[in-house]
This record gives sequence, C-alpha cells and structure tokens, in this order.
Amino acid sequence: MPQHHKLLSLALAATVALTPHAFTQQPKPDVPPALYLGAAWYPEQWPESRWDADLALMEQAHIRFVRITEFAWSTMEPTEGNFEWTWLDHAIDAAAKHHIAVVLGTPSATPPAWLTQKYPETLRFESDGKQDEHGNRQQGSFVSPKYRELCRDIAERMAKRYGHNPNVIGWQLDNEISAEDYGPAAKAACQDWVHAHYKTLDNLNTRWTTAYWSEAYTDWSQIPIQEKYGNPGLLLSWKRFVSDTWRAYDLNQIQVIRPNVDKRQWITTNTMGWFDGYDHYTVEQDLDLAAWDDYVGRGHLDPYSNGFAHDLTRGFLRKNFWVMETQPGFVNWSANNTALDKGEVRAMAWHDIGHGADAVEYWQWRSALNGQEELHGTLVGSDGTPVPLYSEVAQLGAEFAKAGPALAGTSPHSQVAILHSYDSRWAVNWQRHNQNFDPIQQILSYYKPLRQLAQSIDIIQQTAPLDSYKLVVAPGLAVLTGEGAKNLIAYVQNGGHLVLGQRAAMKDDDNSLQANRAPGPLATLLGGRVEQFYAIDDEKTTPEATVPVEGKWGDTTSKIWAEQLSVTAPDTEVLMRYGKSNGWLDGQPAAITRKVGKGRITYIGAWMDDATLLNAAKWMTETSSVTAAFGPIPEGVDVYPREGQGKKIFILVNFAKTPQTITLPSTMHSILEDKDLSTLSLDRYGVAILQAR
Ligand code: GLA
Ligand code: GLA
Repeated sequence: MPQHHKLLSLALAATVALTPHAFTQQPKPDVPPALYLGAAWYPEQWPESRWDADLALMEQAHIRFVRITEFAWSTMEPTEGNFEWTWLDHAIDAAAKHHIAVVLGTPSATPPAWLTQKYPETLRFESDGKQDEHGNRQQGSFVSPKYRELCRDIAERMAKRYGHNPNVIGWQLDNEISAEDYGPAAKAACQDWVHAHYKTLDNLNTRWTTAYWSEAYTDWSQIPIQEKYGNPGLLLSWKRFVSDTWRAYDLNQIQVIRPNVDKRQWITTNTMGWFDGYDHYTVEQDLDLAAWDDYVGRGHLDPYSNGFAHDLTRGFLRKNFWVMETQPGFVNWSANNTALDKGEVRAMAWHDIGHGADAVEYWQWRSALNGQEELHGTLVGSDGTPVPLYSEVAQLGAEFAKAGPALAGTSPHSQVAILHSYDSRWAVNWQRHNQNFDPIQQILSYYKPLRQLAQSIDIIQQTAPLDSYKLVVAPGLAVLTGEGAKNLIAYVQNGGHLVLGQRAAMKDDDNSLQANRAPGPLATLLGGRVEQFYAIDDEKTTPEATVPVEGKWGDTTSKIWAEQLSVTAPDTEVLMRYGKSNGWLDGQPAAITRKVGKGRITYIGAWMDDATLLNAAKWMTETSSVTAAFGPIPEGVDVYPREGQGKKIFILVNFAKTPQTITLPSTMHSILEDKDLSTLSLDRYGVAILQAR
C-alpha cells in the first residue's frame, strides 16, 4: 500500500477507535503562572494508587507542571495497534486536581521492543557500522520512513486525544534528539541532500575542490559519509544534512500535532546547551518555544558558561525559553557525581530565570526502582518521602509564586549581541590547527568580559536582525556565509560596531578558504586583512614561544594563535601590535579598527588573556556607547535584567564565596522581602529580586 494511503487508513482507524475524553469533567484551567516550576514525572512506573501522594507533595512544593510520557510508548501501545489511554487520562486528571498542568512528550526516543523486533529497518547504525538494538533509548533511525510513520501515528493519536484537554499546556517532541544514523539509508539520503543542494556534479566538484586527491565524483552514489577527516565541504554538508533531517524528523510529528490541538498548546523539543550535533537554528525554526536541559554534572555552576548556554537557547527563537530539565542536586552520568551545595540549586534556578527562562523543571521527581538511572538526584526518595533538597525546591516554588506577577511579560534585552555559528564551530574543530583552539573557549573569552560590562548579552546567528544592537561581536565566526556577510556589511554601514575575533571569515559557505583571504568579504570594509596565521605553543612549557602583544588595551601575550594583520586603508587604525617573537610577527598589527561612516569595524587577531580582553571589551563598549544595564556590582555577584510591560526587574545572585554588599543605583523594591532598599547584602548563593521604581 502506498504510504499516504496507509497513513490515511491509520488516521481513519484512529478516529473510530478514539473516544474523546470527557472534557466536561475536567476542572477549570488554572491561570498559568508567569514562572513555572516543574518536575519530570513517570506515572507509568508506579501504581495509580501512589499518584495522589506524589502530586500532593508536588503541590506543596508549588510545582505547577509535570512533563510526562516522553518514554512511555510501551505503556501507551503495549502491542502493535493496542492502545492504553485510560491510565494517561487518569494521570492528567489527577495532576489537574492538584493544579498541576501537563506537558506531554511524544515517545519517539524509546520505541518498544515489539516495534524494533517487527521492523528492524527502523534501527539506526552507529558510525562504526554496528546496528543499534533494543534496551537503551534513541535506537530509532532519523531517516527511516517506517520509523517516521510509526512516530507520526502515536503522536497523532496523542494529539487527537489530548489536544483540547485544558490541563495539557504543551508538547515536547522526542527527547534530546542527537543520535544520527550512519547506515546505508542515511548515506543514500545524504547523497540525495547533496544532490538537491549542489544540483550538478560539476558544481559540487568545483565547490568542494574535488580535484584534490582525486576526490572528483562522477555519480552522486559515490559520495561517502565522513564525520572527521574528510573534505571540509563534505563534512559540512553531512552536518547540514543531519540538521535538515532532524528538522524533518520533528516536522513529521509537528504536522500531526498542530492541526489537532488548541492554539494555546505549544510545541517544543529539549536541546542540550552547547551540544553541536546539528544546527539548532535550522531545527528550532518550526517550534513555538525553545527549551533545554541544563545539567552541571560534576562540580559547581559556572555562571558564564551556563549563562552563555541560556543566552544561546534564548537566541534560537529570540524570546524567553524553558529549562525543561535540570539536576536536583546531582546527576548519575558524570565521572564523579558530586552534589551542588545547599542553596546552589535555588541560586541556579534564579540564574536561569535571569537569563530568560520562564520555567525550571527538575529531572526527576522520583527515581524508578530499577532502570539505567537509579542513582540520579531526585526530589523524593525511593520510599516516596522528600529528600533534603525538597525543602529548598519548595522554597523556590514559593518564591516563583511570589515574584511571578512582577516578572510576567518581562525578558532580557541587550545592547550587545555575540554571533554564534555551528558551521564555524564545526569548521574549527575539524581543523583546529592548534589542539588548544577550542571554539567554545574562544567565544567564552569574549562573552565573559562583555557580560560583566553590559550585564546582558544576546547570542544570535549571523543572519539575525542586528539593527537594535549598539555592538555586535563575532569572536568565532570562521565560516561567514554570503548572506551573513551582507547582513554584517549592512550593519556597519548603518552605524553599528562590528568586532571580529581570530579566524573570522576565513571560510565561506562551503567551508572553503575565502579566495581573497580573511576576513574575506569584510576585508575592504576593514581596510586590512590577515597576512598569515600562526599556531602558538604553550608559553609555560615553551617560554621561547611567547608572543608579546601591546597597545591600547595593555601589555600581554597572545596564546594558542596569533594572526599577522596588515592595514590597507589610510584610515585603519592599529590598536595592538606584537612584540618580538618569531620574527614574522615582530612589530606587526595584532588588532585593527576602522571607522566607516557612523559605524565601525574592528578585527582582533591575537588570543589575549582575560584581563586584556576586559580592557578590550571596555574599549568596545565605550566606543559603541553601551551602558551597564544595572551599574557597578561586586565581583562574583551576577545581575540579570528583565524588562517589559513598563517594568524593569533585576535579579541578583551572589556566586562569590563570601557575603557581598551591593549599593543599588536607585531605591528599588525587593519583591521577596516586600520592602524598598537602597543597599543590600547577599550571602553566598543569596538571591534578590528588585523592581526599579
Ligand atoms: C605528506 C604528503 C603530502 C601532504 C604533506 C602535508 O608529505 O605526501 O601530500 O599531505 O604530507 O604535510
Ligand atoms: C537527560 C535526559 C533525561 C535523563 C537526564 C539525566 O537530560 O533527557 O531523560 O536521562 O539526562 O541527567
């Protein structure tokens, strides 16, 4: 039977088989809170008689939503075509009685055993050629038409049954999509993708320079899958294929959910912060909401690295997002699963909200008595009574309820944007040239001082609208696309200040070297270019490798990388120069800037230390009239501005080891304490939520 007929008949069968749930018996929907506290709950792992006790404990902790069913396929469809919905109807009803809303997960991350046994073609292949099997999760192939059909069917049935349920607020597609398929079907699909993208083999061969090593293709079916040491054009195409395939994989479910559910029910999927397995800008564009799973793992929260991941997620759809999972104290998958300190879980939650999260969900409520993750942190123990962290989360829940109205309708707004690009991170990681050239560290080295100064940063892609920013910094933009170049040139010509970091615009759309050297299409505007790049050895182990840099931002050394710049326009100014080092770099420009009308473009070719980058960031912000959102604040205290609906809120969290006193820029109202303040003292992990008058 052709696939569309099959789907049609499945849909018809579904209409006959499903009796819509009796909505009239549902309690009235609660007013949704502005800040949602949640927990991952797995009712299918427990007898129904236990649910009420769990939900009552959640309600006491002000937990206002549960995410369920993302792994419950075998409970919803125990054997092929036999659906069990009654338990789920009851679970949603039981939650509603406790004023707890429900996010439904589509279960495609965990296909049941009967499915993989009957349809082994749905199983993915690992990159080493081994086929996955049942017993873990994510064994389904993201390209398999049969798997798509089966995922679509269960998603559609869920949507039809719960799409108008007043207690269901949204949908999570799958769970942490990330496991590609490297089997024959994926290879054929990738070849089709390359064909559609490059149209002719001549075009492909030219743009990948396949004359190199006799790589030239005479048939699309000759193109291999390569992940690491392949032709850079091929590597990038594989990643773009993977990104488009995940998008299609999600759309397969979105297309049956959206027409069957109320408009108020949103659709999201949970991503993983810095994870770069696919281009999130590609995959996220069809979703209503961005959401991510925020785990510290071993050690403690790093507010910069974690803050970057929040800002990155907020940048996918350029609006507030959800933290769909976070650790209740500790995880089970790290080398050493240390716990966050007492108070740190609460502090972290407010840091999340500060960066634009509107919800924080703890994974998970209670551990299953068996299963792969028995030792993971939870809010209740194996006996179903609270663990020590429960009361901290309950306090947080009370605070969410109290501060929610003030934070409603607010979000972070920034004068500064940092450009982020998956193409660029991949390109650098495939050819680091210095093993220490970590694109994440590179981008963080700029994010950190800029966040300290501006106190709010947007992270966006190179094609995003830039008009609203006074300063746009691109520390790690190795791959500049044609569209990106147009956007950046227009930004500078319209009066913006663009700062490029090391290796910027070295590559083009195909991951080829820019034919006119870095920064390629921006070189004319800059009035300068990169004459040569040099990998630099570690100055600690090889002192003779030290590359001094000095100038406007102070005296320092260039680590990991140093680019010899040249100036080609009379009005391009040299900001920093190299000192005596390898001969080539001696006395050469290390950072240059040029005023272009009301705008400015700056290029930094040295990898400088934090103190010098802080000076550089001060220069960038001053030159661009960027102001601090809050004002002076002691080191270690993070401030997060959120504004909207005429309100200006500042969340303050003290991550310093000692208590800190903060003088407020004006008298502000402390929402948690219900009083006006002009100074404030915060203990370690202390939190204040202040509303400007
Ligand atoms: C070898 C190979 C060349 C080239 C160089 C690079 O010598 O023969 O083709 O790969 O290494 O250093
Ligand atoms: C991920 C998954 C969860 C769980 C947690 C454990 O985020 O989405 O199902 O495995 O990790 O930390």
